[in-house]
Amino acid sequence: MNKIALGVTSSISIFKAADIIRLFQKEDLTVQVIMTDRATNFIQPEFFTALSGQPTIVKLFDQKKHPIEHITLAAEISLLLIAPATANIIAKLASGLADDFLSTFYLAVKSPVLIAPAMNEAMFLHPQTQANIKKLRDLGVAFVEPESGYLACGQQGSGRLASPEKIVQISLRLIRQQPVFKDKLIVVTAGPTREALDPIRFLSNRSSGKMGYELAREAYERGAEVVLISGPVELPPPAGIKVEKVISAEDMRQAVLKYYDRASVVIMSAAVSDFKFSQTSQEKIKKEDLPSAIKLDRTPDILEELGRLKRGQLLVGFAAETSEPKVRAQEKMKRKKLDLMVVNDVSRHDIGFESDDNEVYLLWPDGRERLIGKTSKKKVSREILTEIGAMVNGRKGNN
Ligand code: PMT
Repeated sequence: MNKIALGVTSSISIFKAADIIRLFQKEDLTVQVIMTDRATNFIQPEFFTALSGQPTIVKLFDQKKHPIEHITLAAEISLLLIAPATANIIAKLASGLADDFLSTFYLAVKSPVLIAPAMNEAMFLHPQTQANIKKLRDLGVAFVEPESGYLACGQQGSGRLASPEKIVQISLRLIRQQPVFKDKLIVVTAGPTREALDPIRFLSNRSSGKMGYELAREAYERGAEVVLISGPVELPPPAGIKVEKVISAEDMRQAVLKYYDRASVVIMSAAVSDFKFSQTSQEKIKKEDLPSAIKLDRTPDILEELGRLKRGQLLVGFAAETSEPKVRAQEKMKRKKLDLMVVNDVSRHDIGFESDDNEVYLLWPDGRERLIGKTSKKKVSREILTEIGAMVNGRKGNN
């Protein structure tokens, strides 16, 4: 089912519902907005009708529509999200009161329910509100914790509606989680590493982290526990995912090894620098002191080490190639004992480094291969995670 019901109640943060709708639409999901009567004091229903392309529901019995719309709609949705949710709607749902469309609809819904509260800090922390939240949690309702910050009442504190990105990310996980990823730790590496010469100069590469961040998001949405080990990139940390920031190849190696025993899958999409400076300086090296040649050493090959230490983990590598991509990638896959190799041609400017798109070959040790034609890194990640899910299910490993 590709429909989400979005309940909108009377909070000053109601405007953020517009971003939530847009983010769902980017995921090809249809949004049916349900407003409480009081929410219409802030925004007219027509605003959400125009944004969502679906007539906004406010009244319980609308003569122009199906007389028991709350029942028919309940069967069509994959999630009921209420964002922003006031203390009043939380109290109503906790006590089973059904005196308008949204509260009646809640009782008819069989799909997951997610609530994103937004209110003044004292109201949020009030024992009554907390008791209502606990009651709903015990009934299986999920919550997105509100954030701390500046509140509409002029105070600082907890109670601010979580970001639309976070709310949508958690929603997608509720809809898309798959049993195969439950209780599985997936470690994803992303971005470049930097090898310092002195405090201001370093050796690195053009990796933006986009490929790895999309892979981490996709793994999270499918229900895995995800640790994202990221080199220095400009991207915001994805919601719900533990991010370990690292700088050098050695930092990345240590971070990956920390989680390796517990990991079911490791996806090494980071562009780890192959070289580091033999000697580094704590002070900025003066121009006149720079030697004409600087000696380089090899960095540790993290993936090769993971291949040697492998005990049941599924290892996925990436190969960044500029010529004979498949031949070189096959050699790396064998040497590093990988279960899946993802090959991209980084001589192209429309895919690979920095681009929002990629085109990759998937190679397996048994000789199977598959081309994922040029598409967004998000869709490439989706395909890769589908293949990983099938491999985890079938336990087809290269141990
Ligand atoms: O970050 P983006 O801008 O989105 O770009 C994505 C990408 C091009 C960086 C990504 O798709 C990609 O190709 N990542 C792997 C880059 C790379 O380092 O490839 P490689 O062929 O040099 O290495 C092969 C594998 O060994 C990789 O999985 C790499 O992470 C790993 N490796 C490499 C060197 C090293 N010292 N340790 C390693 O673990």
